[in-house]
Amino acid sequence: MKCPRQLRPPLGLALAVGAFAFLLLFDLHRRPSTCAVSEKPRATRKTPAWPTPPARPRPARCQPNSSVAAHPDFARQPLRVRDFLLHRHCREFPLLQDAPPAKCAGPVFLLLAIKSSPGNYERRELVRRTWGRERRVRGLQLRRLFLVGTAADPLQAPKVNRLLEMEARTHGDILQWDFHDSFFNLTLKQVLFLQWQETRCANASFMLNGDDDVFAHTDNMVSYLQGCDPGHHLFVGHLIQNVGPIRAQWSKYYVPRVVTQEEHYPPYCGGGGFLLSRFTAAALRRAIRVLDLFPIDDVFLGMCLKHEGLKPASHSGIRTAGVLAPSQRLSSFDPCFYRELLLVHRFLPYEMLLMWDALNQPDLACGKRTQVY
Ligand SMILES: *[C@@H]1O[C@H](CO)[C@@H](O)[C@H](O)[C@H]1NC(C)=O
Ligand SMILES: *[C@@H]1O[C@H](CO)[C@@H](O)[C@H](O)[C@H]1NC(C)=O
Ligand SMILES: *[C@@H]1O[C@H](CO)[C@@H](O)[C@H](O)[C@H]1NC(C)=O
Repeated sequence: MKCPRQLRPPLGLALAVGAFAFLLLFDLHRRPSTCAVSEKPRATRKTPAWPTPPARPRPARCQPNSSVAAHPDFARQPLRVRDFLLHRHCREFPLLQDAPPAKCAGPVFLLLAIKSSPGNYERRELVRRTWGRERRVRGLQLRRLFLVGTAADPLQAPKVNRLLEMEARTHGDILQWDFHDSFFNLTLKQVLFLQWQETRCANASFMLNGDDDVFAHTDNMVSYLQGCDPGHHLFVGHLIQNVGPIRAQWSKYYVPRVVTQEEHYPPYCGGGGFLLSRFTAAALRRAIRVLDLFPIDDVFLGMCLKHEGLKPASHSGIRTAGVLAPSQRLSSFDPCFYRELLLVHRFLPYEMLLMWDALNQPDLACGKRTQVY
């Protein structure tokens, strides 16, 4: 603000450049009309890469249950808890982006169902390029889907919806429902996905449910799952036991008594990433139909398993807590360490790329010290 004079020459220059650019654009814009004959008809170019599935009727918007507000503790709950209670009964939301029918046309061995926030474009791109790449491993088909809601911010929402529409068109890997993508709505995302899978990808033998910031060693997962029967119970991950609701309001995991009176959670697997079989997915759907939704998604699945008389199990290769992710304290990381694991939480997008590249080096020699950088 001190030196407005100095702004003038660049401003003049900018105007000149702008005018030139405008002329150039105008010129370019006019040009196609002179060679329209050789152009292909526009309609053929607009054909989407994926055939669109038939439109379904839109469910009516779910109305908040205002009688929950009568509870004496309701008013002093944080907004996210009040929001959760008001909409706890809402389970039907329109699908904004669907997967192409080809997604599960052939036999799918492992379906990667990755929970992602609408704005996490870079994370999705890196997952697509690394461990989430759709391919055959040992002859078995891997498929990928991102599970997304909508941005709660009304200014952001239309923009990210356009982004997701574009990604769906290009990659055919977006399942987006019309609900606010928030931490306490992750259970809803899980429930809607399992319902979608029942009709649209029922033949997937196994599923990986996880977050978009994990590093999943999908080749190792296939080797491990090859020894399992999709028609039997399987639910493995980072097992968490002997914990209960956190009653401190400051916590991200705060769950007040108005949500549950229970002081203990059943055993469950950390939501960062867990594997389940086709059999167990069907069992979870049965429980989901009768249980009230619980705001913490991984705990909710533990409740569903318990309801069905099933137990989650631990897999030492799945670390969603307690292991040093590369970014935390180490300035470099050893791919040989990750070579043995199935899944590790908290990777930055570029770290995923480095690790994936290192693990796929044909001459990765373990035994002696090897580092990516
Ligand atoms: C609305 O909330 C009340 C009080 O918690 C509950 O009894 C009722 O079943 C709820 N209604 C629906 C549709 O979930
Ligand atoms: C979940 O999504 C619904 C639909 O968008 C919204 O009304 C509700 O407030 C959300 N709940 C939470 C806890 O964010
Ligand atoms: C799913 O698998 C069963 C048996 O393996 C088969 O009969 C059925 O046609 C398959 N469905 C689809 C949609 O591929």
